[in-house]
Amino acid sequence: MCLNRPKKKNGIFKTGFITVRKSTTKSKYEFINLYYTKWNVITKPSPRIIVDTHAGTGQVVLIKKSPLLSTVETEIIYGSPILAILKTLLISDNLVIILNEASKKNYLLLEKCKKAIMRRGLPIFEEIHERVRFRSLRTNRPNLQPRKKKRKFPNSFNSRTPRGFQRVWIKSKADIHLNRNKIEDSIDDLFSEYVNIIDERTKEMPKGLFLVDPCGMVSWNKVILKICERSNKLEGTELILNWSWEAIARTINTQSKNSTLSEIYGIPLENIDEEFQGLGLDNMEEFKNMYIQQLEEYFKHVVEVGVSRDRQLKPKQSQHRKYFLIFCTNNKSALSLAGYQLKKIEKNVRGNIRKIDYYFQDNL
Ligand SMILES: C[S@@+](CC[C@H](N)C(=O)[O-])C[C@H]1O[C@@H](n2cnc3c(N)ncnc32)[C@H](O)[C@@H]1O
Repeated sequence: MCLNRPKKKNGIFKTGFITVRKSTTKSKYEFINLYYTKWNVITKPSPRIIVDTHAGTGQVVLIKKSPLLSTVETEIIYGSPILAILKTLLISDNLVIILNEASKKNYLLLEKCKKAIMRRGLPIFEEIHERVRFRSLRTNRPNLQPRKKKRKFPNSFNSRTPRGFQRVWIKSKADIHLNRNKIEDSIDDLFSEYVNIIDERTKEMPKGLFLVDPCGMVSWNKVILKICERSNKLEGTELILNWSWEAIARTINTQSKNSTLSEIYGIPLENIDEEFQGLGLDNMEEFKNMYIQQLEEYFKHVVEVGVSRDRQLKPKQSQHRKYFLIFCTNNKSALSLAGYQLKKIEKNVRGNIRKIDYYFQDNL
C-alpha cells in the first residue's frame, strides 16, 4: 500500500520520501529490477525511452515490521526513477528517461536526486579485478587470463560494499528529463516531444517502456489508452502497470462509484450500471479481468507479474489484495523474459514462504 499521504499512525511515518510497507514493494521492485536491465540489453542499440508516469521522489522508505516483536524498522531504497537510471547505466546510449511527477514536494526531492546523480553518477559494485596466471598445458608458456569482472547493483546509496568488490561511480549517458505535471495533462506533450519522435540516425521511433505506478486510480482515456494505442506501432511498446483494486474498493459503496469506474475503465457514465451489474466488493477478480480484457485489445500478451502464479504459494488469494502488477507486451521474447524473471522471483519467494503469508497478512 502506498502511504504517501501524511498520516500519523503506528508504523506509518511522515517523511519526504514515498513510504511503503515492505510486503507491497517486494514484487514490484523485484520485477522492475530484473526487467529494466534485460529490456535495455535486448533493445539496444535502438533508440529507447523509459517513461515513469508517476515517478515519486526517487527514493522509497521501506517499513519492515517484525511479526514477533512489535518493532518497526525503516530502510531507504531506490525508487523506480533511480532504478531506471541504475539498471541502464552500463548501456545508456540512445536512451531517454522521462520522469513525471505531479506533487511539488516529491518533484523537488526527485530533482535533487537527479542533480546529485548527474554530478556524481551512481555507485555500482565491481569485483576487484584479478588476473589469473596459469601455464598453458600445450605450450607451457605463462598466460594471462583476464577474468570477466562481476558487477552488482546496490539497492540504495547506503548499501554496503560486498567483500571482494569495490564501489565505482558511473555517470549515465541517458537523456534524463523531469516533468512536473499531472500525467493526464502532460502525456500528449511527452508523446509529441519525446516518444513519437523519429531518430535521425536510425529513422526509427524509440522502443518504449512505460511504468504506470499511481497511488490509486489512473484514467483509462487520458493515460492508458494513449500508451495502448502506441502499442500498434512497429516500434515496440511495453507497459508495466501497478493496477489498484483499492481505488475501486474504496468507492464501490459510495456515490462516486460510477464516476470512478468510468474514469478507470474509460466507459461512458451512462453505461456503467449495465457493464458492472451485480458486481461488488467480492468481485475483485472480475473487475481485474475486465480491465485485463481491455488491455488485451491492444497487447497480445497481458500477464500478471511479480507474484507467484503457484496457488500453493497463495494461501490467501485474498479479495483484499490492493495492487496487481500487470505487464503488457506484443513481443513474445519480452514475455518469456518476463516469465523467466518471474521464475527467479518465485524462487526467491519460495525460499521464504513465511514472507508470502506475511505479504497477505499485511495487505488485509
Ligand atoms: C506510488 S508513488 C510512485 C512510486 C515510484 N513509482 C517508485 O516506485 O519509486 C505515486 C506517485 O505519483 C504521484 N502522482 C499522483 N498523482 C499523479 C498524477 N496525476 N500524475 C503524476 N504523478 C502523480 C504521487 O505524488 C506519488 O509521488
